[in-house]
Amino acid sequence: MENAINFNEINIDSKPPEDEPARQYYFMAKCRQYVKAESERLGRPLTAAVITFGCQMNARDSEKLSGILESIGYLPAEDENADFVIYNTCTVRDNANQRVYGRLGHINSLKKKNHHMKVALCGCMMQELSVIEKIKKSYRFVDLVFGTHNIYKFAELLAEMFDSGDICGTHSGGQNASHRIIIDIWENTDKIVEDLPVERKYPFKSGINIMFGCDNFCSYCIVPYVRGRERSRSPEDILREISALARDGVAEVMLLGQNVNSYGKTLENPITFAQLLREVEQIEGIERIRFMTSHPKDLSDELIAVMKESKKICRHLHLPLQSGSTRILTAMNRRYTKEQYLALAEKIRREIPDISITTDIIVGFPGEEPADVDETIDVIKKVQYDNAFTFIYSKRTGTPAAAMAETMAGTPEENLEREMMVKEGFDRLLKVVQDTARQRVARLEGQILDALVEEVNEQDSRLLTGRLSNNTIVHFPGDKSLIGRIVPVYLKECHGFYYLGEKR
Ligand code: 5AD
Ligand code: SF4
Repeated sequence: MENAINFNEINIDSKPPEDEPARQYYFMAKCRQYVKAESERLGRPLTAAVITFGCQMNARDSEKLSGILESIGYLPAEDENADFVIYNTCTVRDNANQRVYGRLGHINSLKKKNHHMKVALCGCMMQELSVIEKIKKSYRFVDLVFGTHNIYKFAELLAEMFDSGDICGTHSGGQNASHRIIIDIWENTDKIVEDLPVERKYPFKSGINIMFGCDNFCSYCIVPYVRGRERSRSPEDILREISALARDGVAEVMLLGQNVNSYGKTLENPITFAQLLREVEQIEGIERIRFMTSHPKDLSDELIAVMKESKKICRHLHLPLQSGSTRILTAMNRRYTKEQYLALAEKIRREIPDISITTDIIVGFPGEEPADVDETIDVIKKVQYDNAFTFIYSKRTGTPAAAMAETMAGTPEENLEREMMVKEGFDRLLKVVQDTARQRVARLEGQILDALVEEVNEQDSRLLTGRLSNNTIVHFPGDKSLIGRIVPVYLKECHGFYYLGEKR
């Protein structure tokens, strides 16, 4: 745990403090009592599972939730067979929402058998009004719902949940009509609360939020509506957190933001992302620095120069393209043209030849034609991505593109025809992505490169899984004592997106 707290010093009979994070520590101390009493009643420790959907931001938020759960006395659990289950949700595409509803159906049956079980929902999907209405109507067994802006208040909300229900299970586990769901959703916030406990998934690497929210309003994207306005953490707080992580044995950090290239613009003393990277580089013990995500329109020459000079910044850039057609890029409000993107990619490759570039692509944006997909394929062939995440456009209510999709909708037959056209374009594009990436990744065959050993291979326990600086995965025989270390690995055979190798 990154922050050790002395709970014995907190007087929970007094009024809760107003200041953060002291207020949350107070509620953690209160929750500890509930958890202790309940585990004494059950004669075993209580368990909690945080089940995460979506991106790295959500993964990091889940580590914060886990840190709070652990500090109040829950043991971590992997799946829904836990006393407390929290779904940290994603809503970037509709299938993410559907997956959560599917899991809720399953957990309802578990909760009927296990009356003291508690269920919480949080994350991006909860920021949508229609979702909250649906939960109130159809998922009344849920105990707690909160959003993206108030996860720092998790302990306070838990205390309220424990106060409101009977944790000892004498009420009907939320199955009765009077069961009160605690719902706390904020529309937006400029608040950033520092110094709360965090439980890291990996001891040797960690994500670090450098900013929250997004102001770009790409026309298809729901993120600015559910994650709020862009706000940066102060460099002092970020550097302090990373220094503490380094002292705790973290070798690799991933700086997280929806658009890291606009980091620092709104700070009282503005600094650039490149300047922040220079500072992070000075921190002893940090051996690798990654970041995610870079909007092409904001990627500066200064950043390219810092990456080029750096021994620690990884040779990987995730540079979402979304579309290669200038017409569609304009409709997407991406604020760059095909030619500008290509020129940027070329400049990056010229300055940092060994870099791998990955991307995100959407197929089927309203009004997109096969000729637009051809333009995207042209960019894929020219840029030679190491990997590309391809998505079929998903209509997100409230976004400008959803309105475009509605205006353009035709008869059911026409819509079906369009769906087939989109699918055909997607398959065509995916094939090019796979072919180019396979060739591109294979360029390293025969080289010896450093890999950070992350874990024992899931399929074959004789193998370890490591990550190269350029983000490519390599599996190689080795002992699990190497986990967390950076070791040289001979890249023997390329298997599409990964390598089989040997430690040198
Ligand atoms: N439909 C499909 N893909 C989307 N993305 C964001 N919004 C949508 C949407 N409405 C994709 C983008 C983004 C990635 C995280 O998700 O490609 O970069
Ligand atoms: Fe969404 Fe665009 Fe912001 Fe990325 S930059 S989160 S795609 S609005």
